[in-house]
Amino acid sequence: MIMTNKQEKFIREDYEKKIDELIAKMTLKEKIGQLVQISPSLFGAFGLTVDELIQKLVNGELSPEEFEKLDRDYHEDEIREGIIGSMGGVIGAEKSNELQRIAIEESRLGIPMLFGLDVIHGFRTVFPIPLAEACSFDIDMIKKSARIAAKEASAAGIHWTFAPMVDISRDPRWGRIAEGAGEDTYLGSVIAAARVEGFQGDDLSDTESILACAKHFAAYGAAVAGRDYNTVDMSLQTLHEVYLPPFEAAAKAGAATFMSSFNDINGVPSTANKYLLTDVLRGKFGFNGFVVSDANSVAECVVHGHSADRKEASRKALLAGLDMDMSHGTFREDLPDQAADGTIPEEVLNEAVRRILRIKFMMGLFDNPYRTSKEKEEKTILCAEHIEAAREMAKRSIVLLKNENNILPLKKNLKKIAVVGPLADNAEEMLGTWAVTGRAEDVVTILSGIKSKVSSETEILYAKGCEITGDKDADFKEAVEAASKADVVIAVVGEKSDMSGEASSRMYLDLPGKQEELLKALHETNKPLIVVLINGRPLTIPWVSENAASIVEAWQLGIQSGPAVADVLFGDYNPSGKLVVTFPYSVGQVPIYYNHPMTGRPAGKIKFTSKYIDGPVEPLYPFGFGLSYTTFSYNNLVLSSTEVKANEKLIISVDVTNTGNVAGEEIVQVYVSDVTASRVRPVKELKGFKKILLQPGQCETVSIELNVSELGFYNENLEYIVEPGLFKIYAGPNSKEGLEGEFNVYE
Ligand code: NOJ
Repeated sequence: MIMTNKQEKFIREDYEKKIDELIAKMTLKEKIGQLVQISPSLFGAFGLTVDELIQKLVNGELSPEEFEKLDRDYHEDEIREGIIGSMGGVIGAEKSNELQRIAIEESRLGIPMLFGLDVIHGFRTVFPIPLAEACSFDIDMIKKSARIAAKEASAAGIHWTFAPMVDISRDPRWGRIAEGAGEDTYLGSVIAAARVEGFQGDDLSDTESILACAKHFAAYGAAVAGRDYNTVDMSLQTLHEVYLPPFEAAAKAGAATFMSSFNDINGVPSTANKYLLTDVLRGKFGFNGFVVSDANSVAECVVHGHSADRKEASRKALLAGLDMDMSHGTFREDLPDQAADGTIPEEVLNEAVRRILRIKFMMGLFDNPYRTSKEKEEKTILCAEHIEAAREMAKRSIVLLKNENNILPLKKNLKKIAVVGPLADNAEEMLGTWAVTGRAEDVVTILSGIKSKVSSETEILYAKGCEITGDKDADFKEAVEAASKADVVIAVVGEKSDMSGEASSRMYLDLPGKQEELLKALHETNKPLIVVLINGRPLTIPWVSENAASIVEAWQLGIQSGPAVADVLFGDYNPSGKLVVTFPYSVGQVPIYYNHPMTGRPAGKIKFTSKYIDGPVEPLYPFGFGLSYTTFSYNNLVLSSTEVKANEKLIISVDVTNTGNVAGEEIVQVYVSDVTASRVRPVKELKGFKKILLQPGQCETVSIELNVSELGFYNENLEYIVEPGLFKIYAGPNSKEGLEGEFNVYE
């Protein structure tokens, strides 16, 4: 994906001049104030810290209404003093306008504040978790989802989202895999750019646009053992080839901000990592926005053992290229002395201030600081158009993993359907991780979705069966009874929302609690068992895969979960999603990902090859896999040329035919492998895809263009090269199947 770099538009002579004038007037305290982001602190609330309270909110132990009612300190005196550049967690048009008014009218220089929030997959109209959305491979729809999030968030006074998360992850133990686009670098890059464009629109001064923040820079998804916040150790080649391209795509798409990650990379915390924040981000990517730390991560450099105290941590972070501190105290308490005595050069401080002011100018905040109103907020949030888009996105995010004997789609006039499982009539858990402003009351559950889909003669027998976690099986009986009476059983099982996301790494990836046993008991009834999975990561489900008649991977689909799942179950929508992350058989296979380097002893029949003695080496479901209610055939792989130069394009075309009886969408995938190279290369890598709709019997010649310059790698001197030689190309329905061709790159 060759893109023009939109970072250049951030440098405007008129604004740079205004920034110079402003900086010349600022005191040291006011300058450092611009580098500070704090959140409203809460008083007397159960004696908990703000972070603990937010966690309660995320866990659902505290409702948004209760949270809103807590007494809080919005730091008005400090705003008046002009020493707060940004606030996180201020929600609502009235509140944000009120605080902004203090900054504009009552502070000495009237510099507007930036209000940031984690708007990860929708604001009040909660969309599917990002991992699910990615499975749609529907880039326009993903962009639209981000746009709607921006419209709602901006109407509620938010200027800035801490999204998209563009971390590649090959480790389903890591809970935050839910927040990204999966394991693939190419797809992750395309989606990163789309999300940035969706949030930011064409113009940051558009009042419906919010700033994007590409996070977590960098390689956070490669935390050792899948444990959140853990160390990352990898070659610079892997960093540049696998983990950085989505960040580069986000930067080129014009992302105004980046967030540094919690982890260290090869011994240096990202928060204080000059190589990353300056050499790569500003140097290589040409980034002209600003970088915010992750929450408290500057101070945590001390805990990492990389700084002796917060002073040193603040200094190292600022000198490395970090501009804003997301915490209550570090920069503001630990920078002033060092800036006053010259330990921190004035130019460094001024440069960080400049980068933040630049974005405030680009947003038009100096001219138009109040971008919303209560009326606009009420009109925009949760409007019919947004809810419809959430349903559209949700159904496109679903992946059909199994469909024995075409048991799906179901007829709407079946006599009796048993709907069972702890997630069947659950609203809260459909929201997924990081849905801070989402509300369970907005969710249509899967049970309700099914009920409104079937005919009036159909009887729905609902039984919960068991809880999501815990070891009680007392309610199995009721569920089994319902199943015995029904024509078909729909079991909705999986994870709670807070079992993925931040600080939610798991060491077992099977269905939690008694859910698999419930499925086994249901299976004993010999009724067709349709399993709907609700989860934030790949699960290890070999028994389900073997025994269920159908498996619908529904992830956490947001407020329109019910209608979307029902659309798929009853054939009003033909599922089209494909997995963006590999499903292992067992945790012991992790990390398992399709684009692994070639080994000298690929798995084979003989013992001394790369495999396991106690289980399969292949995954349960590969990357790119997903079924449809129709079938597709691939024929006629044609390359525009079999001899190309590194600066040329290659067009791959393939005939795809809908060989079934219903219309369906197919995601045509093109993979490439560099057969021999001076560094061992992946067995194959996704380099292009196209989603097409075909009527029964229809054939389309799908053409996908590749830039040969994008088929290279980083050599041992960390130079990007495309080495001449033989390449293989595959066009097919997933990473395991497809037609094969080859071409030569020559000098
Ligand atoms: C910590 C998370 O790592 C980050 O993704 C989030 O944006 C910040 N907290 C702010 O909530």
